[in-house]
Amino acid sequence: MIHIKTQADHDKYTKMARTDRDGFWREASASFFWRKAPKLISQGKLGEKVTWFEDSLLNLSENCLDRHMASKANQTALIWEPNSPDAPSRSFTYRELKREVEVFANTLKKLGVKKGDRVVIYMAMIPELMFSVLACARIGAVHCVVFAGFSAKSLSARIEDSGAEFIIISSGAARGAKCIPLKGIVDDALMMSPRVKTCLAIKHTDEALSMKTPRDVWYHEASIGVSDSCEAVSVSGEDPLFILYTSGSTGKPKGLLHTTAGYMVYAEYTFRNVFQVQQGDLFWCTADLGWITGHTYLTYGPLLSGATTLMFEGIPTWPDASRFWQVIDRHQVTHFYTAPTAIRTLEAFGLTPFTGVALDSLKVLGSVGEPINEEAWQWYFENVGRSRVPIVDTWWQTETGGIMISTLAGVTPALPTFATLPLPGVEPVLLNSDGKEVATQAGEGALCIKEPWPGMARTVFGDWQRYQDTYLKAYPGYYFTGDGAKRDDHGNYRITGRIDDIIIVSGHNIGTAEVEDALDLHPSVVESAVVGYSHPVKGQGIHGFLICSDPSIDRDKLKSELLTLVTRELGPIAKPERFQVVAGLPKTRSGKIMRRILRKIAEAETKDFGDVSTLLNPEIVDQILKAEIF
Ligand code: PRX
Repeated sequence: MIHIKTQADHDKYTKMARTDRDGFWREASASFFWRKAPKLISQGKLGEKVTWFEDSLLNLSENCLDRHMASKANQTALIWEPNSPDAPSRSFTYRELKREVEVFANTLKKLGVKKGDRVVIYMAMIPELMFSVLACARIGAVHCVVFAGFSAKSLSARIEDSGAEFIIISSGAARGAKCIPLKGIVDDALMMSPRVKTCLAIKHTDEALSMKTPRDVWYHEASIGVSDSCEAVSVSGEDPLFILYTSGSTGKPKGLLHTTAGYMVYAEYTFRNVFQVQQGDLFWCTADLGWITGHTYLTYGPLLSGATTLMFEGIPTWPDASRFWQVIDRHQVTHFYTAPTAIRTLEAFGLTPFTGVALDSLKVLGSVGEPINEEAWQWYFENVGRSRVPIVDTWWQTETGGIMISTLAGVTPALPTFATLPLPGVEPVLLNSDGKEVATQAGEGALCIKEPWPGMARTVFGDWQRYQDTYLKAYPGYYFTGDGAKRDDHGNYRITGRIDDIIIVSGHNIGTAEVEDALDLHPSVVESAVVGYSHPVKGQGIHGFLICSDPSIDRDKLKSELLTLVTRELGPIAKPERFQVVAGLPKTRSGKIMRRILRKIAEAETKDFGDVSTLLNPEIVDQILKAEIF
């Protein structure tokens, strides 16, 4: 285990990781329960297949649960706060959580799930979601959590890609005043994916459901009489742990595959050192388990460290905008980790929601998912942190498995809008347009990583070529993050945003191609292009440019049909904010859309479009500028 407690430790470990990388990660891996301890630490270079702790044997759920039985069996592992503040919360000690996971694991086994099988999970934010993930890990099945805001089509695409024959769902999901009928969405998805043989359903919300036998099985029935003792299976270090889908530059879902030992070591190392959680603290990560943040910092990081984690089912603005602050006071949360979009949403409600809340339990605040602007940072610091609590701005990705660049709470200094320094063991570089490393301390460029790290995704599930093309080809020998960044003359990094075809809306990654594919399905849309633009609350909004067969088409009707279409195809998170009907799109002679120009137009810029000499149709820019926005 590595615990960095001072700036001097930070310097020491940064140096050690550079001179003796394997020694550094060996030390980080020391406190786990290995059924066979690793002799091999890392193998392979960026650009080829990389492995970590490959010769080891272990079980991740055993490391999250059984390992703590001697000293923490009666300590609370999980507190669940429901959507409604009037409903009771639930809590589980480490011993109780272990028992729930073992019953769940035995139920999965009884229903035929085996080591290596992929299990898709599509659920509300309830404790059973965490049980199901840990149960998969216990029996060596590969969990594949799909955020329960995705459409039936997106869910089906993920089922198909993962090859899963087993899905775990909850009957519905309560989100604020809304109740989302998940079972209905799943039924639609399974019509498209008949490969699924078993759908295990947790009863959560109250709507009437139709269960299709023998496919659909209730958990409360299937688990009757099941033993509460389930031996954890041994898996090898590089056996797959989970697949998590993220957006890419084509519409096809991109399933990042994370493997067991490296992910475990990295989740624990980053959780411990970034957040500096101590005995008795309560860690609250607001992310849904359908995203990587929910995997690493709601579930695995806290449990591996023996911390107490809080899971929240609801939303920040219901029943009112004081909900987060009430939860912090009620449970005495010490560490609060959320996204800039939530901060900006709450900022818009002013200071009234803070009336009567103390927030004096807080010790550390965190931010993740997108760049945090200075104003939101200050608001968070002053009103939530009462100008006394350190903020960690943590930069990382689904692909990196855990935090890569961040302040360490109370150890290294924060700097508003900067993620600051890489964690020891992480080697970021900035590359210029010639693909050369920016040699000066201060500079700007494409953010890349120079050395492998244990938490890195190993491949795109079933598509190593796509992994190489996306991450390893742009700058040979480096991992390309897709982000741009600046570095100041003290080595602090500031992430400036995506430089590829991804738009981050309210912290959710959305690929331009998948939205365009959905828009193009409309019978009147001949071609479309979408770009991101600065949005005061969502960070970025989506602006769509449409070439229509009938340019005089009714705008209101078109917009409403397009929004329905995007919701059906992808889910409500991918809905564009606004559109323009245009006569053409700016294209290069090779037929590529020049998004750079569209981005400027979406940002309401009217001049300085840079070099347009390679455009096939430069006159189109003026026409687009005149087109109505609706
Ligand atoms: O653009 C960066 C942004 O989110 C992207 C990764 O998104 P995802 O895979 O969904 O993972 C989100 C949670 C880790 C990054 O490429 N991003 C994430 N954290 C930050 C950030 N941008 C700026 N500052 C951050 N702290």
